[in-house]
Amino acid sequence: MHLTSTLGATALLAATANAALRGFNYGAFFNNQAPKQQADFEYEFNAAKQLPGTNGAFTAARLYTMIQHGTINSPISAIQAAINTNTQLLLGLWASVDDATFQNEISALKTAISQYGQAFADHVVGISVGSEDLYRITPTGIENHSGVGAQPDQLIRYIQQTRAAIQNTPLAGKPIGHVDTWTAYVNGTNAGVISNLDFLGVDGYPYFQTTMANSIENANQTFYDSYQATVNSAQGKPVWVTETGWPVSGPQQNQAVASPDNARIYWEDVACSLMAKDINLFYYTLQDAQWGQPEPSFGIKPAGDLAQVQPLFDTSCPQRDKCSSAEQHVIGSSYSALISPTRSTIFNFYLSPSDDGKICYLVFMLPNQSPEFWTPYQITSPGGINVIQLDSPATVTTNARIAGNGTLVGTVPQLNKGQFYKVATLPCQSGTIGYKVDSLDGLNMQFFQVNAPPLGLFVMVSD
Ligand SMILES: *[C@@H]1O[C@H](CO)[C@@H](O)[C@H](O)[C@H]1NC(C)=O
Ligand SMILES: *[C@@H]1O[C@H](CO)[C@@H](O)[C@H](O)[C@H]1NC(C)=O
Ligand SMILES: *[C@@H]1O[C@H](CO)[C@@H](O)[C@H](O)[C@H]1NC(C)=O
Ligand SMILES: *[C@@H]1O[C@H](CO)[C@@H](O)[C@H](O)[C@H]1NC(C)=O
Repeated sequence: MHLTSTLGATALLAATANAALRGFNYGAFFNNQAPKQQADFEYEFNAAKQLPGTNGAFTAARLYTMIQHGTINSPISAIQAAINTNTQLLLGLWASVDDATFQNEISALKTAISQYGQAFADHVVGISVGSEDLYRITPTGIENHSGVGAQPDQLIRYIQQTRAAIQNTPLAGKPIGHVDTWTAYVNGTNAGVISNLDFLGVDGYPYFQTTMANSIENANQTFYDSYQATVNSAQGKPVWVTETGWPVSGPQQNQAVASPDNARIYWEDVACSLMAKDINLFYYTLQDAQWGQPEPSFGIKPAGDLAQVQPLFDTSCPQRDKCSSAEQHVIGSSYSALISPTRSTIFNFYLSPSDDGKICYLVFMLPNQSPEFWTPYQITSPGGINVIQLDSPATVTTNARIAGNGTLVGTVPQLNKGQFYKVATLPCQSGTIGYKVDSLDGLNMQFFQVNAPPLGLFVMVSD
């Protein structure tokens, strides 16, 4: 008996110690350039912990600078806020101006150590020297006007200066890393930077990867490809995800559509799977629209009083036995249809009483993609469909669990471009009828149902 309880306690401790970091990114100022004060950081850190559906897991904060905005080298007030709210800090030293300015970051770090001592150290989980500095000096970064960056040798000096600054202080031994895009890490010219790090922070945004097929359907794959490429270049060091997210609003980037529905899909696919894998995650972001409107905007919460405004999408995660809880999510947008091994779409059709007694054909149309017409669909994995007539049609709150029972009315073994499929011939029934389309043999498809040329599931009434 004694043995059992001892083992129980040990297991619990180990689990706590290993728990991966979950947090958001926190800028030093609002959109109107007003510096965030200690009370603002405390408000944000508390709001993160209270984010619905997350069980208080978002207890970490990544900062970009050690300096309180608007001062030369005073320590950022987020430190006192983190101590007061028991928030874990991934510190950041901004490294993309010049050597003299970097010394201000070092000064602020040293001042913070002497001012807050062990209480500060107890909340620091890592220190990042720089943020996307190597990305900004690449041809893509320059083309995108991303601003001043830093050369690899410059970053190496800054990393060494940071190590020296924390030596023999309560912060000694804290892991020192750097944050950049995967493209910077796979670039062999930067290998020397990696050799000097304890961990790599990677920022990944499939939304911006416009030279690739970057619809939300491909986003999970695109993200993990870039994560894996970083791991492969990491010289065995841990890789933390320091920024990732999908915008809730903003312009379309190639195939990537910014919307709360898509942000929810990204959260469920990428954020939830990272958490399930116990990978350190700093999502971008809790709120980015305070006192101004960024384009695109990545905020889970819109502008306004953070404690009052509701999230723009559901941030809960499916249970590890994924289907049971995922079934409760309504992810539909009323515009786009998703048909994949884990997602089905329900289509409602209304027939008038004058159609009663006629013959109805349930058809699926997949036009050829041609430059003359807008044919908005992507098939990322081939396969077919099963079509189920539901006992009752969908409402705005229908999820997979309550979609109810139905009858299989037709099957298309394989969907091919440029084809028209007669799924079923049925007596027309007036009123609203719901049909659920399930993926068959791995079909992964996303489309916007349109009429010209017809694309999607239709009911045709014979005369
Ligand atoms: C590779 O890295 C070097 C140094 O950071 C940079 O100057 C160069 O532009 C990078 N190359 C590409 C293709 O991004
Ligand atoms: C940067 O430039 C590349 C190449 O022109 C483009 O594909 C990409 O969307 C741009 N990224 C951002 C963040 O604007
Ligand atoms: C996203 O990709 C990761 C890594 O391959 C995988 O573990 C996870 O299940 C994927 N999520 C979905 C919804 O496909
Ligand atoms: C579906 O059918 C099962 C078994 O016949 C029944 O127990 C269940 O209540 C039905 N569900 C709905 C939503 O009608």
